[in-house]
Amino acid sequence: MDFFNRHDGELYAESVPVSRIAAAHGTPCYIYSRATLERHFHAYDRALAGMPHRICYAVKANSNLSVLNVLARLGAGFDIVSGGELERVIRAGGDPGATVFSGVGKQRWEIERALEAGVRCFNVESDFELAMISEVASERGRIAPVSVRVNPDVDAGTHPYISTGLKENKFGVEIEQARVLYRRAAEMPGLEVVGADCHIGSQLQSLDPLMDALERMLALIDALAEDGIAIQHLDMGGGLGVPYGDEQPPSPGAYGEALKERLAGRDLELLLEPGRSIAANAGIMVTRVEGIKGGDEHRFAIVDGAMNDLIRPSLYSAWQRIEAVTDQSGIQPAVYDVVGPVCETGDFLGKQRELAIEAGDLLAVRSAGAYGFVMSSNYNTRNRPPELLVDGADVHLVRRRETLEEQLAPEIPLPELGS
Ligand code: LLP
Repeated sequence: MDFFNRHDGELYAESVPVSRIAAAHGTPCYIYSRATLERHFHAYDRALAGMPHRICYAVKANSNLSVLNVLARLGAGFDIVSGGELERVIRAGGDPGATVFSGVGKQRWEIERALEAGVRCFNVESDFELAMISEVASERGRIAPVSVRVNPDVDAGTHPYISTGLKENKFGVEIEQARVLYRRAAEMPGLEVVGADCHIGSQLQSLDPLMDALERMLALIDALAEDGIAIQHLDMGGGLGVPYGDEQPPSPGAYGEALKERLAGRDLELLLEPGRSIAANAGIMVTRVEGIKGGDEHRFAIVDGAMNDLIRPSLYSAWQRIEAVTDQSGIQPAVYDVVGPVCETGDFLGKQRELAIEAGDLLAVRSAGAYGFVMSSNYNTRNRPPELLVDGADVHLVRRRETLEEQLAPEIPLPELGS
Protein backbone atom coordinates (compact mmCIF):
# COMPACT_ATOMS: atom_id res chain seq x y z
CA MET A 1 0.00 0.00 0.00
CA ASP A 2 1.22 3.44 -0.84
CA PHE A 3 0.07 7.04 -0.86
CA PHE A 4 0.07 7.62 -4.62
CA ASN A 5 -3.62 7.55 -5.47
CA ARG A 6 -5.95 8.86 -8.14
CA HIS A 7 -8.70 11.38 -7.42
CA ASP A 8 -10.91 12.77 -10.17
CA GLY A 9 -8.69 11.42 -12.91
CA GLU A 10 -5.46 12.83 -11.45
CA LEU A 11 -2.55 11.05 -9.79
CA TYR A 12 -1.69 12.49 -6.38
CA ALA A 13 1.37 12.12 -4.19
CA GLU A 14 -0.25 12.16 -0.75
CA SER A 15 -2.43 15.28 -1.02
CA VAL A 16 -0.58 17.00 -3.85
CA PRO A 17 -1.41 16.57 -7.56
CA VAL A 18 1.64 15.13 -9.31
CA SER A 19 1.04 17.48 -12.26
CA ARG A 20 1.52 20.47 -9.95
CA ILE A 21 4.88 19.17 -8.78
CA ALA A 22 5.98 18.49 -12.35
CA ALA A 23 4.94 22.00 -13.39
CA ALA A 24 7.00 23.52 -10.58
CA HIS A 25 10.10 21.34 -10.84
CA GLY A 26 10.20 20.05 -14.39
CA THR A 27 10.63 16.52 -15.69
CA PRO A 28 12.02 13.98 -15.35
CA CYS A 29 11.81 14.06 -11.56
CA TYR A 30 11.54 11.63 -8.69
CA ILE A 31 8.78 12.08 -6.10
CA TYR A 32 8.80 10.26 -2.74
CA SER A 33 6.07 9.95 -0.15
CA ARG A 34 7.03 10.29 3.50
CA ALA A 35 3.83 8.58 4.69
CA THR A 36 4.60 5.53 2.53
CA LEU A 37 8.17 5.22 3.81
CA GLU A 38 6.85 5.43 7.35
CA ARG A 39 4.06 2.97 6.75
CA HIS A 40 6.47 0.34 5.42
CA PHE A 41 8.92 0.84 8.27
CA HIS A 42 6.14 0.55 10.85
CA ALA A 43 4.85 -2.64 9.23
CA TYR A 44 8.18 -4.35 10.01
CA ASP A 45 8.58 -2.73 13.38
CA ARG A 46 5.09 -3.62 14.56
CA ALA A 47 5.33 -7.21 13.40
CA LEU A 48 8.48 -7.67 15.47
CA ALA A 49 7.15 -5.90 18.56
CA GLY A 50 7.77 -7.95 21.66
CA MET A 51 11.09 -9.39 20.53
CA PRO A 52 14.42 -7.60 20.53
CA HIS A 53 14.96 -6.33 17.00
CA ARG A 54 16.35 -3.56 14.85
CA ILE A 55 15.28 -2.66 11.31
CA CYS A 56 18.46 -1.58 9.51
CA TYR A 57 17.22 0.07 6.31
CA ALA A 58 19.48 -0.80 3.34
CA VAL A 59 20.81 2.62 2.36
CA LYS A 60 21.70 1.49 -1.17
CA ALA A 61 18.02 1.30 -2.13
CA ASN A 62 17.54 5.06 -1.78
CA SER A 63 20.22 7.07 -0.06
CA ASN A 64 18.80 10.58 -0.33
CA LEU A 65 19.67 12.33 2.94
CA SER A 66 16.05 13.32 3.56
CA VAL A 67 14.81 9.77 3.01
CA LEU A 68 17.41 8.58 5.51
CA ASN A 69 16.37 11.34 7.89
CA VAL A 70 12.70 10.30 7.75
CA LEU A 71 13.72 6.76 8.70
CA ALA A 72 16.25 7.85 11.33
CA ARG A 73 13.48 9.78 13.11
CA LEU A 74 11.53 6.53 13.41
CA GLY A 75 14.46 4.84 15.11
CA ALA A 76 15.66 2.90 12.09
CA GLY A 77 19.13 1.47 12.01
CA PHE A 78 20.97 1.31 8.70
CA ASP A 79 22.78 -1.20 6.51
CA ILE A 80 25.63 0.39 4.59
CA VAL A 81 28.07 -0.93 1.99
CA SER A 82 30.59 1.88 1.70
CA GLY A 83 32.31 4.70 3.52
CA GLY A 84 30.21 7.08 1.45
CA GLU A 85 26.99 5.55 2.72
CA LEU A 86 28.29 5.83 6.29
CA GLU A 87 28.78 9.59 5.84
CA ARG A 88 25.24 9.85 4.48
CA VAL A 89 23.84 8.08 7.55
CA ILE A 90 25.76 10.39 9.87
CA ARG A 91 24.74 13.55 7.98
CA ALA A 92 21.13 12.43 7.92
CA GLY A 93 21.10 12.13 11.70
CA GLY A 94 21.29 8.33 11.74
CA ASP A 95 23.02 6.46 14.53
CA PRO A 96 26.27 4.71 13.53
CA GLY A 97 25.77 2.59 16.65
CA ALA A 98 22.68 1.15 14.94
CA THR A 99 24.43 0.70 11.60
CA VAL A 100 25.78 -2.53 10.16
CA PHE A 101 28.52 -2.44 7.55
CA SER A 102 28.03 -5.02 4.77
CA GLY A 103 29.83 -5.45 1.45
CA VAL A 104 32.31 -7.79 -0.21
CA GLY A 105 35.24 -5.45 -0.69
CA LYS A 106 35.60 -3.10 2.25
CA GLN A 107 38.71 -0.94 1.96
CA ARG A 108 41.08 -0.09 4.77
CA TRP A 109 40.00 3.56 4.99
CA GLU A 110 36.37 2.49 5.18
CA ILE A 111 37.10 0.11 8.03
CA GLU A 112 39.08 2.80 9.85
CA ARG A 113 36.29 5.34 9.50
CA ALA A 114 33.57 2.86 10.50
CA LEU A 115 35.53 1.86 13.58
CA GLU A 116 36.05 5.48 14.52
CA ALA A 117 32.34 6.25 13.99
CA GLY A 118 31.43 3.26 16.16
CA VAL A 119 29.34 1.14 13.80
CA ARG A 120 27.30 -1.55 15.44
CA CYS A 121 28.78 -4.45 13.46
CA PHE A 122 31.00 -5.34 10.51
CA ASN A 123 29.32 -8.00 8.38
CA VAL A 124 32.46 -9.79 7.24
CA GLU A 125 32.55 -11.58 3.91
CA SER A 126 36.00 -13.26 3.79
CA ASP A 127 39.01 -14.37 5.81
CA PHE A 128 41.17 -11.57 4.37
CA GLU A 129 38.63 -8.99 5.45
CA LEU A 130 38.54 -10.45 8.95
CA ALA A 131 42.34 -10.16 9.11
CA MET A 132 42.23 -6.54 7.96
CA ILE A 133 39.58 -5.55 10.50
CA SER A 134 41.55 -7.28 13.26
CA GLU A 135 44.71 -5.43 12.22
CA VAL A 136 43.04 -2.01 11.99
CA ALA A 137 41.29 -2.45 15.35
CA SER A 138 44.42 -3.75 17.11
CA GLU A 139 46.52 -0.83 15.83
CA ARG A 140 44.00 1.53 17.41
CA GLY A 141 43.53 -0.41 20.62
CA ARG A 142 39.90 -0.93 19.65
CA ILE A 143 37.60 -3.92 19.56
CA ALA A 144 35.63 -4.32 16.32
CA PRO A 145 32.25 -6.06 16.59
CA VAL A 146 31.95 -8.64 13.81
CA SER A 147 29.48 -11.02 12.23
CA VAL A 148 30.27 -13.45 9.42
CA ARG A 149 28.08 -13.18 6.35
CA VAL A 150 27.08 -16.71 5.63
CA ASN A 151 26.06 -17.92 2.22
CA PRO A 152 23.36 -20.43 3.19
CA ASP A 153 23.16 -21.90 -0.33
CA VAL A 154 19.43 -21.51 -0.82
CA ASP A 155 17.84 -20.64 -4.12
CA ALA A 156 15.98 -17.39 -3.67
CA GLY A 157 14.13 -17.98 -6.94
CA THR A 158 14.69 -14.43 -8.15
CA HIS A 159 16.46 -12.73 -11.05
CA PRO A 160 20.04 -14.10 -11.36
CA TYR A 161 21.54 -10.59 -11.06
CA ILE A 162 19.90 -10.04 -7.68
CA SER A 163 20.24 -13.55 -6.28
CA THR A 164 23.04 -13.70 -3.75
CA GLY A 165 22.66 -16.74 -1.53
CA LEU A 166 23.88 -19.54 -3.81
CA LYS A 167 27.34 -21.09 -3.72
CA GLU A 168 28.01 -19.73 -7.19
CA ASN A 169 27.48 -16.13 -5.98
CA LYS A 170 30.39 -14.00 -4.81
CA PHE A 171 28.77 -13.09 -1.51
CA GLY A 172 29.51 -14.37 1.96
CA VAL A 173 31.28 -17.46 3.22
CA GLU A 174 30.07 -20.98 2.52
CA ILE A 175 28.11 -22.25 5.45
CA GLU A 176 30.46 -25.25 5.93
CA GLN A 177 33.44 -22.90 6.19
CA ALA A 178 31.72 -20.37 8.39
CA ARG A 179 32.28 -22.38 11.56
CA VAL A 180 36.02 -22.49 10.91
CA LEU A 181 36.10 -18.76 10.20
CA TYR A 182 34.18 -18.02 13.38
CA ARG A 183 36.66 -20.03 15.43
CA ARG A 184 39.48 -18.06 13.86
CA ALA A 185 37.68 -14.77 14.47
CA ALA A 186 37.13 -15.62 18.12
CA GLU A 187 40.89 -15.94 18.56
CA MET A 188 41.97 -12.88 16.61
CA PRO A 189 42.99 -9.74 18.48
CA GLY A 190 40.81 -6.68 18.16
CA LEU A 191 37.63 -8.58 17.30
CA GLU A 192 34.50 -9.49 19.19
CA VAL A 193 32.15 -11.94 17.54
CA VAL A 194 28.64 -10.57 18.08
CA GLY A 195 26.45 -11.78 15.25
CA ALA A 196 25.67 -13.97 12.28
CA ASP A 197 24.21 -12.65 9.04
CA CYS A 198 22.99 -13.63 5.61
CA HIS A 199 21.21 -12.05 2.64
CA ILE A 200 19.96 -14.44 0.01
CA GLY A 201 18.66 -12.16 -2.71
CA SER A 202 16.21 -9.45 -3.56
CA GLN A 203 12.61 -9.16 -4.82
CA LEU A 204 11.71 -12.49 -3.16
CA GLN A 205 8.17 -13.66 -3.78
CA SER A 206 7.86 -16.25 -1.04
CA LEU A 207 8.89 -16.69 2.58
CA ASP A 208 10.08 -20.25 1.94
CA PRO A 209 13.70 -19.51 0.96
CA LEU A 210 13.98 -17.00 3.79
CA MET A 211 12.69 -19.48 6.35
CA ASP A 212 14.95 -22.13 4.84
CA ALA A 213 17.91 -19.81 5.30
CA LEU A 214 16.73 -19.09 8.85
CA GLU A 215 16.83 -22.81 9.73
CA ARG A 216 20.38 -23.09 8.40
CA MET A 217 21.49 -20.01 10.29
CA LEU A 218 19.98 -21.33 13.53
CA ALA A 219 21.76 -24.66 13.04
CA LEU A 220 25.03 -22.77 12.60
CA ILE A 221 24.37 -20.66 15.69
CA ASP A 222 23.79 -23.85 17.71
CA ALA A 223 27.02 -25.36 16.37
CA LEU A 224 28.89 -22.20 17.30
CA ALA A 225 27.48 -22.37 20.83
CA GLU A 226 29.07 -25.83 21.11
CA ASP A 227 32.37 -24.18 20.15
CA GLY A 228 31.90 -21.66 22.95
CA ILE A 229 30.97 -18.82 20.59
CA ALA A 230 27.83 -17.00 21.72
CA ILE A 231 25.96 -15.21 18.94
CA GLN A 232 24.01 -12.21 20.20
CA HIS A 233 22.23 -11.13 17.05
CA LEU A 234 21.01 -12.74 13.88
CA ASP A 235 20.80 -10.51 10.81
CA MET A 236 18.63 -12.01 8.06
CA GLY A 237 19.43 -9.29 5.50
CA GLY A 238 16.82 -7.78 3.21
CA GLY A 239 15.12 -9.25 0.21
CA LEU A 240 11.36 -9.09 0.54
CA GLY A 241 9.77 -8.37 -2.83
CA VAL A 242 7.26 -5.69 -3.71
CA PRO A 243 4.29 -5.76 -6.10
CA TYR A 244 5.55 -4.00 -9.23
CA GLY A 245 2.67 -5.51 -11.17
CA ASP A 246 0.35 -8.24 -9.98
CA GLU A 247 2.94 -10.12 -7.93
CA GLN A 248 1.78 -10.89 -4.41
CA PRO A 249 4.90 -11.04 -2.28
CA PRO A 250 4.55 -11.65 1.43
CA SER A 251 4.06 -8.45 3.40
CA PRO A 252 6.66 -7.15 5.85
CA GLY A 253 4.09 -7.84 8.57
CA ALA A 254 3.68 -11.50 7.58
CA TYR A 255 7.45 -11.98 7.34
CA GLY A 256 8.00 -10.35 10.72
CA GLU A 257 5.34 -12.55 12.31
CA ALA A 258 6.91 -15.72 10.85
CA LEU A 259 10.35 -14.73 12.11
CA LYS A 260 9.05 -13.85 15.53
CA GLU A 261 7.27 -17.17 15.82
CA ARG A 262 10.33 -19.21 14.84
CA LEU A 263 12.68 -17.25 17.07
CA ALA A 264 10.48 -17.26 20.17
CA GLY A 265 12.36 -18.48 23.21
CA ARG A 266 15.78 -17.85 21.64
CA ASP A 267 18.05 -15.34 23.27
CA LEU A 268 18.77 -13.54 19.99
CA GLU A 269 18.24 -10.02 18.77
CA LEU A 270 16.91 -10.02 15.21
CA LEU A 271 18.22 -7.58 12.62
CA LEU A 272 16.71 -7.07 9.17
CA GLU A 273 18.11 -5.03 6.27
CA PRO A 274 15.10 -4.22 4.07
CA GLY A 275 15.62 -1.78 1.22
CA ARG A 276 13.17 -2.28 -1.63
CA SER A 277 10.18 -3.19 0.55
CA ILE A 278 10.54 0.14 2.37
CA ALA A 279 11.38 2.47 -0.50
CA ALA A 280 10.21 1.09 -3.87
CA ASN A 281 6.52 1.90 -3.68
CA ALA A 282 7.28 5.10 -1.80
CA GLY A 283 8.51 6.69 -5.03
CA ILE A 284 7.60 7.44 -8.63
CA MET A 285 9.51 8.89 -11.53
CA VAL A 286 7.60 11.43 -13.59
CA THR A 287 8.44 11.99 -17.22
CA ARG A 288 6.86 13.98 -20.07
CA VAL A 289 5.90 12.67 -23.49
CA GLU A 290 8.00 14.56 -26.03
CA GLY A 291 6.25 13.09 -28.99
CA ILE A 292 4.70 10.02 -30.52
CA LYS A 293 6.24 8.05 -33.37
CA GLY A 294 5.40 5.05 -35.49
CA GLY A 295 2.21 3.69 -36.92
CA ASP A 296 -0.23 0.88 -36.37
CA GLU A 297 2.55 -1.75 -36.33
CA HIS A 298 4.66 -0.25 -33.59
CA ARG A 299 4.17 2.96 -31.68
CA PHE A 300 6.73 4.71 -29.56
CA ALA A 301 6.10 7.31 -26.91
CA ILE A 302 9.36 9.24 -26.71
CA VAL A 303 9.69 10.63 -23.19
CA ASP A 304 12.21 12.90 -21.49
CA GLY A 305 13.23 10.29 -18.89
CA ALA A 306 15.69 7.62 -19.93
CA MET A 307 17.79 4.65 -18.87
CA ASN A 308 20.31 7.02 -17.28
CA ASP A 309 17.54 8.23 -14.94
CA LEU A 310 15.99 4.81 -14.25
CA ILE A 311 17.99 1.81 -15.39
CA ARG A 312 16.00 -1.09 -13.94
CA PRO A 313 13.92 -1.79 -17.08
CA SER A 314 17.04 -1.82 -19.29
CA LEU A 315 19.31 -3.66 -16.89
CA TYR A 316 17.01 -6.34 -15.48
CA SER A 317 14.12 -6.23 -17.95
CA ALA A 318 12.23 -5.05 -14.89
CA TRP A 319 8.54 -4.24 -15.35
CA GLN A 320 7.34 -1.10 -13.62
CA ARG A 321 3.81 0.21 -13.98
CA ILE A 322 3.49 3.28 -16.18
CA GLU A 323 0.37 5.42 -16.04
CA ALA A 324 -0.79 8.75 -17.37
CA VAL A 325 -0.69 11.33 -14.59
CA THR A 326 -3.93 12.93 -15.82
CA ASP A 327 -6.76 10.99 -17.46
CA GLN A 328 -7.35 12.05 -21.06
CA SER A 329 -10.91 11.14 -21.86
CA GLY A 330 -10.87 12.37 -25.45
CA ILE A 331 -7.92 10.24 -26.58
CA GLN A 332 -8.00 6.70 -27.96
CA PRO A 333 -5.81 4.34 -25.97
CA ALA A 334 -3.02 2.69 -27.97
CA VAL A 335 -0.12 0.38 -27.22
CA TYR A 336 3.27 2.06 -26.90
CA ASP A 337 6.88 1.32 -26.17
CA VAL A 338 7.83 4.07 -23.74
CA VAL A 339 11.37 5.01 -24.67
CA GLY A 340 13.89 7.68 -23.72
CA PRO A 341 16.20 9.88 -25.78
CA VAL A 342 19.39 7.91 -25.00
CA CYS A 343 21.16 6.37 -27.99
CA GLU A 344 20.71 2.71 -27.06
CA THR A 345 18.14 0.21 -28.25
CA GLY A 346 17.93 -0.89 -24.63
CA ASP A 347 16.78 2.55 -23.55
CA PHE A 348 13.18 1.95 -22.57
CA LEU A 349 11.07 2.46 -19.48
CA GLY A 350 8.36 0.05 -20.56
CA LYS A 351 7.27 -1.94 -23.58
CA GLN A 352 3.84 -2.60 -25.03
CA ARG A 353 1.93 -0.43 -22.60
CA GLU A 354 -1.63 0.62 -23.26
CA LEU A 355 -1.90 4.35 -22.69
CA ALA A 356 -4.25 7.16 -23.68
CA ILE A 357 -1.69 9.89 -24.29
CA GLU A 358 -0.51 12.64 -26.58
CA ALA A 359 2.61 14.79 -26.78
CA GLY A 360 3.05 16.94 -23.68
CA ASP A 361 1.34 14.50 -21.28
CA LEU A 362 2.94 13.38 -18.07
CA LEU A 363 3.61 9.74 -17.26
CA ALA A 364 4.39 8.28 -13.85
CA VAL A 365 6.67 5.27 -13.58
CA ARG A 366 5.58 3.61 -10.36
CA SER A 367 7.66 1.77 -7.75
CA ALA A 368 10.71 3.88 -8.54
CA GLY A 369 11.63 4.77 -4.96
CA ALA A 370 14.18 1.94 -4.63
CA TYR A 371 17.13 1.41 -6.96
CA GLY A 372 15.91 4.35 -9.00
CA PHE A 373 17.76 7.64 -8.57
CA VAL A 374 20.64 5.87 -6.79
CA MET A 375 21.45 3.94 -9.95
CA SER A 376 21.17 6.96 -12.24
CA SER A 377 24.10 8.17 -14.29
CA ASN A 378 25.18 10.97 -16.59
CA TYR A 379 25.23 8.78 -19.69
CA ASN A 380 24.78 10.91 -22.81
CA THR A 381 25.80 13.90 -20.65
CA ARG A 382 22.34 14.13 -19.16
CA ASN A 383 21.88 15.95 -15.89
CA ARG A 384 20.49 13.78 -13.14
CA PRO A 385 16.88 14.58 -12.16
CA PRO A 386 15.70 16.32 -8.99
CA GLU A 387 14.16 14.47 -6.05
CA LEU A 388 11.13 15.73 -4.13
CA LEU A 389 9.68 14.45 -0.92
CA VAL A 390 5.98 14.98 -0.28
CA ASP A 391 4.74 15.17 3.28
CA GLY A 392 0.96 15.58 3.33
CA ALA A 393 0.32 18.84 1.50
CA ASP A 394 3.97 19.94 1.60
CA VAL A 395 6.46 19.36 -1.19
CA HIS A 396 10.14 19.51 -0.29
CA LEU A 397 12.84 19.68 -2.91
CA VAL A 398 15.39 17.29 -1.40
CA ARG A 399 17.85 17.27 -4.29
CA ARG A 400 17.79 19.84 -7.04
CA ARG A 401 18.33 19.08 -10.69
CA GLU A 402 21.99 18.77 -11.52
CA THR A 403 23.44 21.45 -13.80
CA LEU A 404 25.75 20.97 -16.73
CA GLU A 405 28.40 23.02 -14.91
CA GLU A 406 28.30 20.59 -11.97
CA GLN A 407 28.52 17.65 -14.31
CA LEU A 408 31.56 19.00 -16.12
CA ALA A 409 33.32 20.48 -13.08
CA PRO A 410 35.62 17.51 -12.32
CA GLU A 411 36.96 17.37 -15.89
CA ILE A 412 40.36 18.87 -16.58
CA PRO A 413 41.20 20.28 -20.02
CA LEU A 414 44.42 19.05 -21.60
CA PRO A 415 47.37 21.42 -21.53
CA GLU A 416 48.78 22.69 -24.84
CA LEU A 417 49.71 19.59 -26.79
CA GLY A 418 52.48 19.22 -29.31
CA SER A 419 51.24 18.04 -32.69
N1 LLP B 1 21.42 -6.35 2.56
C1 LLP B 1 22.36 -6.68 1.66
C2 LLP B 1 23.62 -7.25 2.14
C3 LLP B 1 22.13 -6.48 0.28
O1 LLP B 1 23.05 -6.82 -0.60
C4 LLP B 1 20.89 -5.92 -0.14
C5 LLP B 1 20.62 -5.68 -1.56
C6 LLP B 1 19.94 -5.57 0.85
C7 LLP B 1 20.24 -5.82 2.18
C8 LLP B 1 18.62 -4.96 0.49
O2 LLP B 1 17.86 -5.86 -0.21
P1 LLP B 1 16.33 -5.52 -0.59
O3 LLP B 1 15.53 -5.52 0.70
O4 LLP B 1 16.31 -4.20 -1.22
O5 LLP B 1 15.93 -6.62 -1.49
N2 LLP B 1 19.52 -3.04 -8.02
C9 LLP B 1 18.71 -4.23 -7.88
C10 LLP B 1 18.68 -4.73 -6.45
C11 LLP B 1 20.04 -5.03 -5.87
C12 LLP B 1 19.99 -5.53 -4.46
C13 LLP B 1 21.36 -5.61 -3.88
N3 LLP B 1 21.41 -5.97 -2.50
C14 LLP B 1 17.31 -3.93 -8.41
O6 LLP B 1 17.07 -2.81 -8.82
O7 LLP B 1 16.48 -4.80 -8.47
